[in-house]
Amino acid sequence: MRMTVIGTGYLGATHAACMAELGHEVLGVDVDSAKIESLRAGTVPFYEPGLPEVLTRNLESGRLDFTTDYQRVAEFANVHFLGVGTPQKRGSYAADLTYVRAVIEDLVPLLEGEHIIFGKSTVPVGTADEMQELADSLAGPGASVEIAWNPEFLREGFAVQDTISPDRIVLGVGRGDGRAEEVAREVYAASISTGTPFLVMDRVTSELVKVSANAFLATKISFINAVAEICEIAGGDVTRLADAIGHDERIGRKFLGAGLGFGGGCLPKDIRAFMARAGELGADQALTFLREVDAINMRRRDRVVQLTRALCNGNLLGHRVTVLGAAFKPNSDDVRDSPALSVAGSLSLAGADVSVFDPQAMDNARKVFPTLNYADSAEEALEGADVVVLATEWAQFRELDPVQVGELVNRRVIIDGRNVLPVQEWQAAGWNIQALGRSL
Ligand code: UGA
Repeated sequence: MRMTVIGTGYLGATHAACMAELGHEVLGVDVDSAKIESLRAGTVPFYEPGLPEVLTRNLESGRLDFTTDYQRVAEFANVHFLGVGTPQKRGSYAADLTYVRAVIEDLVPLLEGEHIIFGKSTVPVGTADEMQELADSLAGPGASVEIAWNPEFLREGFAVQDTISPDRIVLGVGRGDGRAEEVAREVYAASISTGTPFLVMDRVTSELVKVSANAFLATKISFINAVAEICEIAGGDVTRLADAIGHDERIGRKFLGAGLGFGGGCLPKDIRAFMARAGELGADQALTFLREVDAINMRRRDRVVQLTRALCNGNLLGHRVTVLGAAFKPNSDDVRDSPALSVAGSLSLAGADVSVFDPQAMDNARKVFPTLNYADSAEEALEGADVVVLATEWAQFRELDPVQVGELVNRRVIIDGRNVLPVQEWQAAGWNIQALGRSL
């Protein structure tokens, strides 16, 4: 099939490359010409394992191309995927739909014949219906545009795998005689033939599926982090507790990783946008618990700062703190709302001499927080540290040798902000190891 993908960020670039990998002919478009030049040259402008190979393979095969020209997009195909960003609005909890609207406004007047736009961006409930009205008002006499919603569930770090083999495909369609379902079945034929559940529903429900999934994941993480707060005071061990409750199939161990909590470009802004939309709908009470989910999550960052201060005899001034990690999670260079960078920044603002190292996120971290010291290696960052904070659980940090690291630091004191280090090995090497939700 021929299709276009509008927006080439984490979501769109991955979707475009993976659709070509599945055999489709794909044209990706973005208003950012630097991004498009980079993608055309075979360079992914962010870190995503496996994506560079898929990109170059499909550019070479001729099935994939990128452009900034909307006229070309309008003529290339009748099927379009919309994957632009919906960030948090400045000064508000709501999602900013400027980019979604701009796509409809720029593309629809150029279309001729019958077109389907599959929205993939995470949007407040009601957006797809609104975009349908907008498209209807902008379509020329010879054009008809059907808007369907096809939310994306990919995780950064596993984006290629999640796109090629999703665990479910959700499609929200408008009422009437649209062709979106038939076309989506063709687009995703490979996945559907291997048994991937294909769930068709109305557009409103499909929008809610996406935000509910992220709200549930955020709630699960904050639940275990709330229990971690109790464990810290009562003297329990949240990791053993999570193992024990996780054996109950109804609960499950995944996303019960207690620690510094969630960040990134999705979970934090999605729960806030969900609350904002509930308020607009007059149902704010339904989601007030998400405020608590957000607050618990933010308290974990403060807790690490307080713990670091306590380990520096109550005063961070003049102490050297190494923060291992800047990305919001491993296998990503994304620092949007990163707990690691937030902790590093707070420690620095409180007077500590902070040294940061991340295997992939250094450039992005520098842009957001230029005043921190960025080391060229983990070893350089660890040199002379009074306290080490493991903030993002990259394999490289999990596998650090406590004996060797012990030779680099000033004091053998470490906070495992992600509960991933082998505690006994570190203790045996003479370390004072502290972790969230555990008394060690
Ligand atoms: C999340 C969802 O998992 C995806 O399904 C969704 O498609 C995506 O948002 C999106 O809406 O685009 P992602 O942001 O890539 O994916 O990251 P996650 O793997 O969900 O991790 C989010 C945060 O939670 C990270 O900061 C991670 O460190 C933290 N986390 C995760 C925990 O603190 N504990 C856990 O047990 C798991």
